[in-house]
Amino acid sequence: MYKIPANTLFIGQRLVFVPECPSTNSLALELSAKSILPEGTVIITSNQTAGRGQRGNTWKTSEGLNLTFSVLLKPSFLKVNMQFYLTIATSLAVQDFLKSRNVDDTRIKWPNDILVGRKKICGMLIENSIQGESIQQSIVGIGLNINQTDFELASATSLATIKQESSDLNQVLNLLLGQLEKRYMQLRAGKLLELKDEYRRNLFGMDEKRTFISNEKKFEGTIANVSESGELIVVINNNRTSFNLKEISLVL
Ligand code: BTN
Repeated sequence: MYKIPANTLFIGQRLVFVPECPSTNSLALELSAKSILPEGTVIITSNQTAGRGQRGNTWKTSEGLNLTFSVLLKPSFLKVNMQFYLTIATSLAVQDFLKSRNVDDTRIKWPNDILVGRKKICGMLIENSIQGESIQQSIVGIGLNINQTDFELASATSLATIKQESSDLNQVLNLLLGQLEKRYMQLRAGKLLELKDEYRRNLFGMDEKRTFISNEKKFEGTIANVSESGELIVVINNNRTSFNLKEISLVL
């Protein structure tokens, strides 16, 4: 069903398709523990039955309609304290892909949900293995809603819902892998300032007053920045406070 992309140098040049699996991230971890897989290997399924999400959430998706896959990267050039740049590069790649399909009003909801308007079209789960001070391997798991139009959650959307037409999954995958490779090359070339600047400019709620929840309490604040390690810096009553993923959520 999926073909090796003609538009990439290494991402997707090894493609492992399984009709069904619990989680492509888990399968990628298992396979990479058993044998040496080349950088850029893509593990993809048509039916992910126990998809894993951020904060221990699950990722539910209809069989055969969306993209659920994981890319194995080996960013040994990246220091552990810079691992958030993988989130930045991947988020921008998904946004690049959507822009290339003329989808307007895309935003990154910290840390790495991709929104169209206020609805989520893509989620990602990036799992890094650390060796000393470097990242030995990174499993970049992406769930991108393409042809599903009925969702349990009112806050979800898809390319088909937005464009009112369905897309060929293989074509979409190839385009996305191409964008991912471009952003990864930018990261590898050390263009950290550019990447961070673009991420900030595309962040939902940046410099705007928004509602947040932390410790089960609702409050107003303004996103001022994202730290190098990926913490969200929010100004609350004129005080800057940093939060990690488990500590805060932004209300849409
Ligand atoms: C989130 O928004 O919470 C992240 C969702 C990540 C889902 C993708 S689908 C492919 C890969 N395999 C998984 O088990 N999860 C990621």
